[in-house]
Amino acid sequence: MLVPQPSYPLFDFLAGINDLEVVSYPLLYDQEWRIDLDAVRDCWGPGAKAMIVVHPNNPTGSFVQSSELASLSACCRENHGALIADEVFADYALEPDEQRVSCHAADSEVLTFTLSGLSKISALPQMKLGWVVASGPEEELNVALERLEVIADTYLSVSVPIAHALPAFLELRTKVQPKIVERLRSNLSWLDRAADSCPEVTRLGTEGGWYAILKVPEVLSDEEWAVELLTKEGVLIHPGHFYDFPGEGNLVISLLTDEASFQEGAGRILAHIAKSS
Ligand SMILES: Cc1ncc(COP(=O)(O)O)c(C=O)c1O
Repeated sequence: MLVPQPSYPLFDFLAGINDLEVVSYPLLYDQEWRIDLDAVRDCWGPGAKAMIVVHPNNPTGSFVQSSELASLSACCRENHGALIADEVFADYALEPDEQRVSCHAADSEVLTFTLSGLSKISALPQMKLGWVVASGPEEELNVALERLEVIADTYLSVSVPIAHALPAFLELRTKVQPKIVERLRSNLSWLDRAADSCPEVTRLGTEGGWYAILKVPEVLSDEEWAVELLTKEGVLIHPGHFYDFPGEGNLVISLLTDEASFQEGAGRILAHIAKSS
């Protein structure tokens, strides 16, 4: 299974416990994150079954562009593989963009499994309800749906209290999402203003999602930065290796934190890096 790098760390473990091996394809950064389409083509080999895209990706915040999807679909088609689109953060774009895929389920020339769930769309991770929309050419789709039915039956039914509460949980998103987007934008613009006076740190471009990536001096490893910031400043961040960044110098911070705590925490991060570099 092809997975993006950097990306959500659990794919590796989830694939492993399902007897699948992952092969990473890189996302490249040059003012914005884009899929390395040549690398994707090279990754598709005889044993490859499926490729994952994360839309927008965690933690890079990059959405799949329509032009990228055309290439990815061509690869899937040529190799008889499926596309798995993780859209849990799809409602959290910072700005509109016509070039991006609106929804993989609506644009599936190949067998596509589009995933989402309550944890992000209604900010209810503990409700543990997610779903898969299967789409694509009819013949392949019918076979896939039959198999998915066996899998769904094997996991037994969804929790009945959660199923009954679902309409209310879904409705909640109309209230919670605008507030989350407002907070993401507000924290990001505060961070950018603060980082302006800290030349040691660059905030990498993002299009959406809940995280910001700080490019920091490699005088310490990302792990060491994370431990120092935690023990000396009381601020919790994620080192880049949690997300399989290929090199050092990447710290991931949450934009979901309430504004006052975010400003305090991000301020401490910037001051600490400035004085330690
Ligand atoms: C990209 C991505 N996919 C899936 C998940 C897991 O979502 P859920 O809680 O709905 O299982 C996460 C959680 O952070 C995520 O970042």
